[in-house]
Amino acid sequence: MIVRIRAGTPDDAETLAALRWEFRAGRTPPTEDRQAFLHRCAAWMRSELRTGASWRAWVAEAEEGIVGQAWVHTIQKVPNPVDDPERHAYFSNLYVQPAARGGVGARLLGAAIDWCEAAGVDTILLWPTPRSRPLYLRHGFTDRVEFLALKLSRAPSRAPGE
Ligand SMILES: CC(C)(COP(=O)(O)OP(=O)(O)OC[C@H]1O[C@@H](n2cnc3c(N)ncnc32)[C@H](O)[C@@H]1OP(=O)(O)O)[C@@H](O)C(=O)NCCC(=O)NCCS
Repeated sequence: MIVRIRAGTPDDAETLAALRWEFRAGRTPPTEDRQAFLHRCAAWMRSELRTGASWRAWVAEAEEGIVGQAWVHTIQKVPNPVDDPERHAYFSNLYVQPAARGGVGARLLGAAIDWCEAAGVDTILLWPTPRSRPLYLRHGFTDRVEFLALKLSRAPSRAPGE
């Protein structure tokens, strides 16, 4: 299957919302009606991709349509008077449909990392699953980090990182 990676656009929102449902509802029983979720998620994605202010996405596109996605949220630091990068990034929602898997996930992740490097991002944060962990380690991610995290909810209904 020939797959190209490109930036996501507002016109992709409906398809990307459906892929989001496939990913998350395929893994954990949903607490929201499918149509309600697709409507809410597509509106959010369309708006975020239109402004481009904090979120951006990359899509994997085959002849038959979009088969995967990855999202990055940039986190602004407080302006700094010294020579320090002024933002971090949060990587999320990496998903490739089963039939298209085999290298496509790495290409989506690589596109996001390339963009972050060019945009002067300091650190990329993400929450791996046990199964996806090797993919991130191969791309240079490490759990030997300097920051602290305070988890405020043990079972959020919509956890970050996915
Ligand atoms: C993660 C995912 C995008 C990888 O897509 P892919 O095209 O197979 O990616 P690549 O071939 O470039 O990378 C293979 C790596 O993906 C990871 N992977 C493979 N199958 C996976 C699965 N079912 N779930 C999560 N990660 C998986 C593994 O780390 C694998 O490396 P390994 O074989 O050395 O263990 C794809 O498996 C997927 O969509 N999984 C479900 C969603 C998910 O778990 N996303 C990650 C959330 S942090």
